[in-house]
Amino acid sequence: MTALNLDLVRKEFPALAGDCIFLDNAGGSQVLTRVADRVRDYLLTSSVQLGASYAQSQAAGEKVLAARRSVAQLIHAVHEDEVVMGGATTSLMFFFTQALLPGIRPGDEIIVTNSDHEANIGGWTRLEKAGAVIRFWNVNLDTLALDLGDLQKLLSPRTRWVAMTHASNILGTVNPVAKVAELVHQAGARLCVDAVAYAPHRLVDVQASGADIYVFSFYKVFGPHYAVMWGKRELLLQMPSLNHYFIGPDVLPYKLQPGNVNYELSYGCIGISDYLVAMGTALGSNGSERERMQTAFDAFEQHEDALAERLLAYLRIKPGVRIVGLPTATDGARVPTISFVISDRQSEPVVRHLDQFHIGIRFGDFYAKRLIEALGLDRQGGVIRVSIAHYNTVAEIDKLILHLDQAIDLKH
Ligand SMILES: Cc1ncc(COP(=O)(O)O)c(C=O)c1O
Repeated sequence: MTALNLDLVRKEFPALAGDCIFLDNAGGSQVLTRVADRVRDYLLTSSVQLGASYAQSQAAGEKVLAARRSVAQLIHAVHEDEVVMGGATTSLMFFFTQALLPGIRPGDEIIVTNSDHEANIGGWTRLEKAGAVIRFWNVNLDTLALDLGDLQKLLSPRTRWVAMTHASNILGTVNPVAKVAELVHQAGARLCVDAVAYAPHRLVDVQASGADIYVFSFYKVFGPHYAVMWGKRELLLQMPSLNHYFIGPDVLPYKLQPGNVNYELSYGCIGISDYLVAMGTALGSNGSERERMQTAFDAFEQHEDALAERLLAYLRIKPGVRIVGLPTATDGARVPTISFVISDRQSEPVVRHLDQFHIGIRFGDFYAKRLIEALGLDRQGGVIRVSIAHYNTVAEIDKLILHLDQAIDLKH
């Protein structure tokens, strides 16, 4: 496989020319010039209300539709109108679960995990007030995995939904969502997947995921502060409208986008796909646009694994360090979001020590509060998390390791 040309990659992200080493990418990634240019272009040339008959309105409407087509291609949706966009994964999930509320019958069972970000738990637990019974699929405390056997014990003829994460934003583990989808569908239930921590590292394929609902945020995937929720069309059609009474149940996706999408941010997202196609082409692919995107992600994964393995190799042997997640990064089983703690020490001082060297990492529960508490790590202020993106370099990881090593030895 051709190696990633990091000079080419880094030129796409102006912020990388500064002196900060960005290793909090699972919090938010840097933004492509291609994205920012499109947002600016839209605002300065297309700021009219959509849906009118005059030429500017028609042209602006075409830009927003082009954005939806582009996102549909990026995620491999069957139909463009399955693409619902909105401000954030949290708000899309909140809207979605609220739309399910009127259809909940007392005794309906919903399975959530204790390793998800709260965005894919909280909206579901609110359905309790309609009589839903919430069951927790908890990680195995020895392996930190979500065991399929445990899920099978929880599934019942009353199960309506299972909500899980494609990759944990703490552990980095990639979960076998397609296998889960089979089990869930056999039980007559549906699967909702949070892919926020996954989408920056693998090419999303909503069809291959087996999910019924699939959500992630563009601001972690080199784009603007914005998000997408994909849903199977037959499911979305069955859902009640969240929009005005005269926006009927067949008006997809508008019925699930009250107030409409953000036009300029939608248009900006085309820049993400443009970038992936350009990187795939630079890597020698001359296939379809999705094949080029896949080539780009294959090279990202190889590079990210090498960086992650460099850090993990250090963490594996450093006395006192406990990696919270899989200890290696060589078999595709994890994304390069790496969490750890140091003995029984507080996580905060280590992170603060690195601040002075302009190394951006962070500590905490990352809103996966239930997981951090289940692991008893809240006592230490949560984990220290280093989250790598494909634009990071070996030199950056080495600088991180150097200062991390000092911080650990300082024994604050
Ligand atoms: C795994 C995961 N899910 C959901 C979210 C929430 O995304 P948003 O900020 O778009 O609501 C995050 C944010 O960090 C996340 O890491």
